[in-house]
Amino acid sequence: MYYPEELVEEIRERNDIVGVIGSYVRLQRKGSSYFGLCPFHNEKSPSFSVSPDKQMYYCFGCGAGGNVFTFLMEYENFSFQESVKYLADRAGIVLPDREATKEERQAADLKTRILEVNKLAAKYFYYQLWTEPGRQAMEYLKGRQLSDETIKGFGLGFANKYSNDLYRYLKSKGISDELLRDSGLVNVDEKHGMYDKFWNRVIFPIMDVNSRVIGFGGRVMGDGKPKYLNSPETKVFDKSRNLYGLNIARKSRKKYLLVCEGYMDVISMHQAGFQNAVASLGTALTVQHAGLMKRYTGEVILTYDSDEAGVRAALRAIPIVKSAGLSARVLDMRPYKDPDEFIKALGAEAFQERIDQAQNSFLYEISAMEKDYNLKDPEGKTEFFKAAARKLTEFDQELERENYIQAVAEKYHTGFDSLRRLVNRMAMLSPERRPPRTEITEKKKALQDDGMKKSQRLLLTWMIEDKGLYHVLKDWVTPEDFTEPMYREVAAEVFGQLARGEVNPARILNRYPEPEQQREAAALFNTTVHTETVQEREKAVKETLLRVLNHSINRQMAALDPTDIAGMQELINRKRRLRDIQGLHIFSA
Ligand code: UTP
Ligand code: MN
Repeated sequence: MYYPEELVEEIRERNDIVGVIGSYVRLQRKGSSYFGLCPFHNEKSPSFSVSPDKQMYYCFGCGAGGNVFTFLMEYENFSFQESVKYLADRAGIVLPDREATKEERQAADLKTRILEVNKLAAKYFYYQLWTEPGRQAMEYLKGRQLSDETIKGFGLGFANKYSNDLYRYLKSKGISDELLRDSGLVNVDEKHGMYDKFWNRVIFPIMDVNSRVIGFGGRVMGDGKPKYLNSPETKVFDKSRNLYGLNIARKSRKKYLLVCEGYMDVISMHQAGFQNAVASLGTALTVQHAGLMKRYTGEVILTYDSDEAGVRAALRAIPIVKSAGLSARVLDMRPYKDPDEFIKALGAEAFQERIDQAQNSFLYEISAMEKDYNLKDPEGKTEFFKAAARKLTEFDQELERENYIQAVAEKYHTGFDSLRRLVNRMAMLSPERRPPRTEITEKKKALQDDGMKKSQRLLLTWMIEDKGLYHVLKDWVTPEDFTEPMYREVAAEVFGQLARGEVNPARILNRYPEPEQQREAAALFNTTVHTETVQEREKAVKETLLRVLNHSINRQMAALDPTDIAGMQELINRKRRLRDIQGLHIFSA
């Protein structure tokens, strides 16, 4: 059910954000905002702010942010529609029971329709597995020691030997060719027309956290290639934002999540009683995966394969997991390859022991480093300790750092004091932890990009917080000067609102259906720098404005057709006029 924009906006306005969030989080007033402990990450001092003026929340610690709908989507795991309904109820607004218009249905609901097709397909595969055509597949799964209960729990299925069987079935259900293509379940080519993507494979339906089927994986029953075939990315299937098994794992009520590499590992672990296991879907772990896990847990145990690729995957995943505010440990599966093989060989109890012994991720990283040095040689050993000391400077809390120094000193039999001295020296030598040379330019570039994005966010935040500023800045900067596509879109809305004399950033967030986008948009209205005096503030505004405009003009120049002399002249003039910014009176006029 899709509601008109005006109604959504009314519902939002009738639910004061401080009241709604206040019923979940203890808030205390501080200046014009309220502060509390962030419910989306672990913290001891409050960096979660709720602004009654902006009707938005924002966490300065983890970057969570949005309006009242976003909050419910993130906290209660509601869909946008569900949070609209919930808040309508809360405000005593009766939602209309009308049919959506055709356009609304079409635009809004390609997603819903793909989900429906996926559900039909999943049921069909499932049915095949439990009937005669699926006998070989059932034998295969039984051969891998899966119980009926496990097979049912994961909704496993079978795509039979005919390559247009599913296609014909779905056509008989009245599904259009176009929708079938959008669902990724059929391929099209000139020679064969439309044919099934999956055939003669065991099927693993992939579900999102709400147990909706978003895609499929299919495994050959033997040694064929490719071993697994997966649905392509579709409107509902984004591999970088979904984890296999999370729909079950999130309810397991264990303190941590087990993260592994594959479908079968997840299933084996669940069957052995570890229902808190999840896997990324044939891709490396992403920042979005980590953020997703952070909603349900504070700790992650990496149970990747014990081969070289698995070790590399773990080393890559550790910083990603940590940057989401999760703590990480790494489980040692040796001598077995993966959780499935380990559990088959040694059973659940032995696996639990390995969980209990899983190594702290920092010490795991140090152990991996150790392999690059010859510890038998005094010089190699010295170099190793230097590298370890450099890594130990990562901890900026003294107590934490000392604890790790102690752990490393003990593990490698060296004195605590001498290691600590080395760490302190490294910290002085390399305030930025001296990245290896090749990384420097890339890092610098990323930092510059970040800096530019921050400048653009600052301008937007300042303008919505101070209408007067907008009236000065509007002669200089336009939405087109915001170079990030999303920033430009939001800027266009903000400029539109300010021109009409209304300031309502929370309303702009209604445009973004996904919490991730809302979070990003929220950051645009919550970027600050500290300034003490009016003069300082004025200087900051001018510098930021200059940076953003310079960047924008340079980009336009670079993109200009070289024969466009008039266009170039205009840009040169515009750039020349930037000198006048210094002389502006912004707050003192
Ligand atoms: P593995 O090759 O480790 O598979 O790939 P596995 O989980 O041990 O599978 P079994 O036990 O042989 O059945 C790990 C994951 O990588 C992805 C799949 O998600 C798989 O679960 N993968 C692997 C693919 O997407 N395609 C492939 O061809 C192979
Ligand atoms: Mn395996």
